[in-house]
Amino acid sequence: MRERAAVILAAGEGRRMGADLPKVCCEVLFKPLICHIIDHLLGTGLPADRLCVVVGPKPYCEPVETLLPEGCHTATQAERMGTGHALMQCRDFLVQNRSADILVMYGDAPFVDADTISAAYGAHVAAGNAVTVLTAKVENPDRYGRIVHTESGVTIVEAADATADQLEINEINAGTYWFSAEFLLENLERLTTDNKLGQYYLTDMLGFCDGQQYKAGAYRAWSAHVALGANTRRELAKLNEIARTLRVEYLLNMGVDIPFASQVVVGQDVTVAPGARLLPGTILKGHTQIGAGAIIGPNSVITDSVIGQNTEINQSQITGSVVGADCHIGPFAQLRPGCKVADSVKIGNFMELKNTTVGPNSALSHLSYLGDLDIGRGVNVGCGVVSVNYDGKNKHRSTLGDYAFIGCNTNIISPVTVGEGAYVAAGTNLTEDVPADALAIGRARQQNKPGRAKGRFKRKT
Ligand code: UD1
Ligand code: CA
Repeated sequence: MRERAAVILAAGEGRRMGADLPKVCCEVLFKPLICHIIDHLLGTGLPADRLCVVVGPKPYCEPVETLLPEGCHTATQAERMGTGHALMQCRDFLVQNRSADILVMYGDAPFVDADTISAAYGAHVAAGNAVTVLTAKVENPDRYGRIVHTESGVTIVEAADATADQLEINEINAGTYWFSAEFLLENLERLTTDNKLGQYYLTDMLGFCDGQQYKAGAYRAWSAHVALGANTRRELAKLNEIARTLRVEYLLNMGVDIPFASQVVVGQDVTVAPGARLLPGTILKGHTQIGAGAIIGPNSVITDSVIGQNTEINQSQITGSVVGADCHIGPFAQLRPGCKVADSVKIGNFMELKNTTVGPNSALSHLSYLGDLDIGRGVNVGCGVVSVNYDGKNKHRSTLGDYAFIGCNTNIISPVTVGEGAYVAAGTNLTEDVPADALAIGRARQQNKPGRAKGRFKRKT
């Protein structure tokens, strides 16, 4: 196996996006563009320490750097003078990898998948090329670089510099290349800014191939989608819609029930078991997993969470949590990060849980805030229970033992422990531990003053 290394160009400002954020941080299916590219690239088996990402100057580059895998190198391009100039900033990395084949990818084209990268590499090696560019035939070549096939190989003409005839060409540069490091090191500095945009174009490298010592070739992707990049918000929205449709169609083919398919968004790293049902307004993000028979939606957002089999999530939001099988959640519940909910639990309407564990068969039915609690099995939490878990400085945990009954409007002033089978009367301010099987009442005793309300208010009818 020949050695391989890779460079991602990610220093561009994305002015055309109208964002302060670097363009490569813009998201497709809620995942930054550059993360799509890194995942595809690592998916080919390339280790992170063989990757160098070209980033802009500080502080602009910082949001990009937080997204990079451990061990990955970076090079800084202080002034953005074009894609060729960006690659020049990696000279040290190229020297370190001078016997390798170098993959160069642009940080704004998220659909170049691992299979395509590998197939292009196969073609590159088989042809003995110094450079192989990934291309695609598209309906509207727009501002993409045009691929010109010549007798001695292939060149690329940027749209800004193309003749009217060249603009008719619909095979375009997808912005992914395999290079020999040796060829790059010998020729990169030959690039000039002698073009309409006054930039160092990486695409001009193909012109340094003579067809003899150094050959330039093209590998055409099977799908036009592979080439799509995003320079503007409109283009980004188009990429999102394509990615969304492909993902939903894949899930439908796998046997997931999505009756109104145009109204569901499922991220790239989400898994949904066949037989699950996704209703309109469902958005599944991050590394979420949905079990078979689960019913999600309508209008539910689930992020980085695991949902068990046959669980129903109705008009609710769940983040960074695990929910077991046969649960009913919502409508209008929120599980914030760190919740672990066992099987057959009911979490009803207007419930907020945070960093809380819930044992099996517990019912938490209405209007409560339950934060930093360990709730046992078979516990009943009444309406309007509040965990008072924050004293202004620190957070405290409390435990509700198995089969405990917590009456309505209880304040659980943490830290306290409610023993197994204990009963907390409605309206209690729970400040002390409750032994197993005890009844706790912590509220002011009611007094009735006979006649004192009489005549106080006028009766309308
Ligand atoms: C580029 C190609 C074009 C191709 C298209 C595919 C060139 C000259 N043109 O055009 O042939 O069809 O991509 O999407 O290469 N970047 C830097 N530093 C810079 C400039 C750019 O790091 O100084 C990075 C950007 O962050 C981006 C990538 O390089 O990720 C591509 O740059 P962009 O300006 O988007 O190139 P295009 O005009 O789209
Ligand atoms: Ca681009």
